[in-house]
Order: sequence, then C-alpha cells, then structure tokens
Amino acid sequence: MKVRKAVVTAAGWGTRFLPATKAQPKEMLPVVDKPLIQYIVEEAVASGIQQIIVVTALGKRAIEDHFDRSFDLESALRAKGNLSKLKEIKRVSEMGEISYIRQKEQLGLGHAILITENLVGGEPFAVFLPDDLIQSDVPAMAQMVEVFNRYQASVVAVERVPKEATSAYGIVAAEPVGERVFKVTGLVEKPSPEAAPSNLAIVGRYILTPEIFQALHQTGRGKGNEIQLTDGLQLLLKQQPIYAYEFTGKRHDAGTPLGLLKASVEIALSRSDIGPEFSAYLKDVVRWL
Ligand code: UTP
Repeated sequence: MKVRKAVVTAAGWGTRFLPATKAQPKEMLPVVDKPLIQYIVEEAVASGIQQIIVVTALGKRAIEDHFDRSFDLESALRAKGNLSKLKEIKRVSEMGEISYIRQKEQLGLGHAILITENLVGGEPFAVFLPDDLIQSDVPAMAQMVEVFNRYQASVVAVERVPKEATSAYGIVAAEPVGERVFKVTGLVEKPSPEAAPSNLAIVGRYILTPEIFQALHQTGRGKGNEIQLTDGLQLLLKQQPIYAYEFTGKRHDAGTPLGLLKASVEIALSRSDIGPEFSAYLKDVVRWL
C-alpha cells in the first residue's frame, strides 16, 4: 500500500516557549521568515504526500489561517505591485489538501494520533512532529517512504545521539538489516545512558501501519498521565515488525528556544538571499566573544 496521508501533531502546549506561546501556537514560530509548520507541510508534499491532517487545539487558529487564502492580503500585495510575495502567499494556500481535527484535551502524542483514526482510515500513514526540522537533499520523509515501500511495515526515523543524551529520547534496540535500516527488537522511553540498548534515538518522523490505532486503544495512560506513542509502538511490535531508519540530513530540534535559535542560524546561513550578509555579521559578532 502507498503512503498517501500524513498526520502533523500540533496540539501541544509548547510550554518550553512560554511566554511566546501564550497566545500563539508554537508551530507558528518562524525560522527566518517561515513558520515551523510550513517547513513540515513542504516536506510532506515534497515526499509525495498530499493529504495532510493537522491535529490542533484551542488557541491554534493561526495555523488554519496560515494555510488558508487571504483575499484581502492578496489584493493589498497586488495593489502595491509586490508580486513575489503575492506569489509566495498564494503558493502557501495551495499546498496540499489540509484538514484539521481538534484534540480537546492534551492527553499526549499517542492520543493526538489516536483521534485521527477515522480520518486516516485503514491505511499506512506518515506522522510529523513539527519540533523536528530536517534539512536534507532528499526530504527525510521521502527517504522513509522508500523504506516503507520495501518492507511494508512501520518505520521510525532514528538518529545517533551521544550516549549521555539517551535520557532525552525514545531509544530503540535494533539489528541492522540493510544500509541505514534496522529491525527494531525493543523500544525504551528516555533510558539512562547505562540502561540504553543503543544510541539510536527516535526523532519526529514515522510511518505507521493502521494497526497502531488498535495498539493505542489498548495503551493506557502512561508517563505524565498521557497516552504515549512509544507505549503504543511497544504493543505494535508484539504483533508485527517495525523498522528504524537512520535518515540522511541535518535535524534541528526546534522544540526549545536554544534549538530554534540554532536552526534559525543554520537555515539563514544556507539561504542565498541573506546567508552571505548574515555570515559576515556573525563573524563580526564572534570576534567580540
Ligand atoms: P511535546 O512533548 O514536545 O510537547 O510534544 P509540546 O506541548 O509540543 O511542548 P512542551 O514540552 O510543552 O514545550 C511532542 C509533539 O506532540 C504533540 C506536540 O504538538 C508535538 O508535536 N502533542 C503533544 C499533541 O499534539 N498533543 C498532546 O496532547 C501532546
């Protein structure tokens, strides 16, 4: 089966960004001049996935407005002759086929995925966590779709992390089965370095088979009284194989202020329009450190 749909989980509180996220969604924070969630939708579309389901919550309306058409803004830009921005904002409103579902209570990532069950239907689907921005020549999700097509099983994106950082991630126990591909034998949520079965950390890209919904139904409230995706994956692993894929590309953890700052610097430096001037500025700043 083909991966045609994606779920983007955007209902979290974004506490780490308070007070910035008191009255605006974390997913709308910009990296240079694009909100985080736009990078994600662009990655989905560039990976051949058009049907995008965004899980939102109270206070997240700006996300819907961002991908909607704004006739007033379009005519204002047209009147000013600002045709390049006009083209850009029209492009944003034409990206993918986006639908929204509200998570009425923030009961965790597993719960956010569970409420999309009827929208996803009985087919494999991609999951994107907008906190993880991945820069790569081939979009990270496109790489994962290729792995899914080969194995027809769930695939989690993994990245090697320093041993001392394992306690910040879900870590897989896994055996290599191909180039950058591993067969998962176990999953542990945030293990201490001593308890970690490997240094392969799960990051915010998944392709899941529809059986995950059954598993999430069975998963009770776990850590933080939330339904944890890792717990659901552990149940799924008892029924069917799960693969881990070490994607190529640079991941930025945009879920914390420092991570967002680093992502902004690197993405700005990679841009041809502002990169050279920004680079000169940074070199100047660094001289004073
Ligand atoms: P995080 O654990 O990063 O939580 O969620 P958060 O609310 O986004 O940020 P902090 O920790 O409060 O600063 C991981 C992903 O799961 C989504 C988030 O939007 C993020 O994409 N999520 C989390 C939901 O959609 N619903 C939830 O109930 C919890």
